[in-house]
Amino acid sequence: MQLTNKLAVITGGASGQGLASARLFLREGARVVIVDWNAEKGEAAAAELSHLGSATFIVCDLGDASQVEAACSRILAEHGVPDILFNNAGIGYSETARYPMVSIFETTLEAWNDIIRINLTGAFLMTRFLGREMVDAKRGSIIFNASIAGIVGQKNIDAYTASKGGLVALTRALAASLGEHNIRVNAIAPGAIDTPMLAPALGNAGVVQRLEATPLGRLGTPEDIAGLALFLASDHSAFVTGQIIACDGGRVAI
Ligand SMILES: NC(=O)c1ccc[n+]([C@@H]2O[C@H](COP(=O)([O-])OP(=O)(O)OC[C@H]3O[C@@H](n4cnc5c(N)ncnc54)[C@H](O)[C@@H]3O)[C@@H](O)[C@H]2O)c1
Repeated sequence: MQLTNKLAVITGGASGQGLASARLFLREGARVVIVDWNAEKGEAAAAELSHLGSATFIVCDLGDASQVEAACSRILAEHGVPDILFNNAGIGYSETARYPMVSIFETTLEAWNDIIRINLTGAFLMTRFLGREMVDAKRGSIIFNASIAGIVGQKNIDAYTASKGGLVALTRALAASLGEHNIRVNAIAPGAIDTPMLAPALGNAGVVQRLEATPLGRLGTPEDIAGLALFLASDHSAFVTGQIIACDGGRVAI
């Protein structure tokens, strides 16, 4: 058991990588609070996971600052100061109806603002509200779920790429400022992971091409990401901070 008595907050824990991480963290002894805007999936996730331990769901749109503040206040009042904050939630280009893969010239300001507000500002707000208490407690691990899009350029997903690049930079900045408070800050950069987010994009020529160029030759699973998140959450990574770790089957290594 690597997370006994730890409190973990996981945004976007109702689905995909966040859900797999919630499951693994619970198995490793953590109490888990899932924060997600999808009430139906969030309630179902907490109910499904509750046989493994303390799993709670809080509904919250990370794109709405007042909702984030209310969710964080509730977490602190009802559960205490988190040991682990996994800023995992995000929206991407696979919500094709709202955010199609288009050139920057066709990207609307509304789409740009939505993606930056949820993927980048939402993670900033969660970290600001909960991080202050983690600083007082003098301990903690903060993990951002970025993307290899934050490391290498990808075509026609400019807003998403900018939001993930922002998380990569924020990881290093926060590692610099929070290290003296015994808080580690790292980011995971997933490649193509088999989750509902990717499903509508699986047929895209770009995704197919990227898969063919992946040394391990397969999509990642949510559990692949959960394993790395567990490492970063646990004391096995006690001397690791400021790192952006690709979990992508080797895609950006070649
Ligand atoms: N799937 C991939 O190929 C891939 C690749 C690189 C990075 N990522 C990143 O991994 C993270 C997890 O995505 P996933 O693949 O598990 O997808 P997913 O769609 O299965 O899960 C994302 C979760 O985030 C939640 N969410 C989205 N917007 C929210 C908001 N405004 N407020 C609260 N919750 C919100 C969704 O409801 C969902 O439960 C995301 O940040 C994504 O950008 C995914």
